[in-house]
Amino acid sequence: PLVDSKGMLVFALNNRFAVGAFNAYNLEMAQGIVEAAEEEDAPVIVQISQGALEYASEQCYAGFVRALAEAASVPVACHLDHGVTFEVVIRCLRAGFTSLMFDGSALPLEENIRVTRELVRIAHAAGVPLEGEIGKIPDAAKGPLTPEERRKFLTTPEEAVQFVEGTGVDALAVAVGSAHRMRVQAADLDIERIALLREKVGLPLVLHGASGVRDASLKEAILAGIAKVNFATELNKAFTSGLREKLAQDPDVVDVRKYGVLARDRVKEVVKEKINILGAARRG
Ligand code: G3H
Ligand code: ZN
Repeated sequence: PLVDSKGMLVFALNNRFAVGAFNAYNLEMAQGIVEAAEEEDAPVIVQISQGALEYASEQCYAGFVRALAEAASVPVACHLDHGVTFEVVIRCLRAGFTSLMFDGSALPLEENIRVTRELVRIAHAAGVPLEGEIGKIPDAAKGPLTPEERRKFLTTPEEAVQFVEGTGVDALAVAVGSAHRMRVQAADLDIERIALLREKVGLPLVLHGASGVRDASLKEAILAGIAKVNFATELNKAFTSGLREKLAQDPDVVDVRKYGVLARDRVKEVVKEKINILGAARRG
């Protein structure tokens, strides 16, 4: 069924596993994600980034994610990932998303708190939870960070407490050593910081940029308090390599379904593997 993300994240936090949140850009990726969750009997979040809305509309994504979720035996949430404007968050709420994120990490702290608080009020009035971000998760595609930049971006417990108390968010995206868009697993997380944040804020913590995190570090982070783990790049890699492989194998293929199937299956394989690493299998 289609559900909001609140209950599944609190359940994950209390039971020391994490819900996988997987970015989809098209129907095939969303199908691969939901099929994997069903086969592993895991709760799952299909997430649509603000950037994805340049590729297809929020109505389009909300429509097919809802249809897939309603046909599924496991809980599925439809989440807006990295909404960076007030308007886009409202548009996705109207379109039927069951979970939202406002990413105000580029704003000054006071401004981030102000806009997030307003969006929480509106989302909650509609019964939809909202994730906020404090600290800044860097983007590996923009080049490596200096150790100084890295430290500057990390979420501090003081700011996290101020942000949570000032906004009323349901989940908190934190900067704890990962970076977006890494193509290899090379990052190790600041586990002590995660444990401290969990102790201070008591909310499900969200790890972004999980494609670049080593499995062992990911598992420790979950024990320390991470309850939602976001993967995008690994799924893009899986889909695109499946597609390339099929097109190379069969240069005469013209039927979209023939290569769509292999790409979709590759996404599904990766999602199944991640669900097991997160401890979410058999938690549906
Ligand atoms: O919000 C999306 C995630 O943080 C994905 O990051 O592409 O590095 O896996 P990733
Ligand atoms: Zn992210």
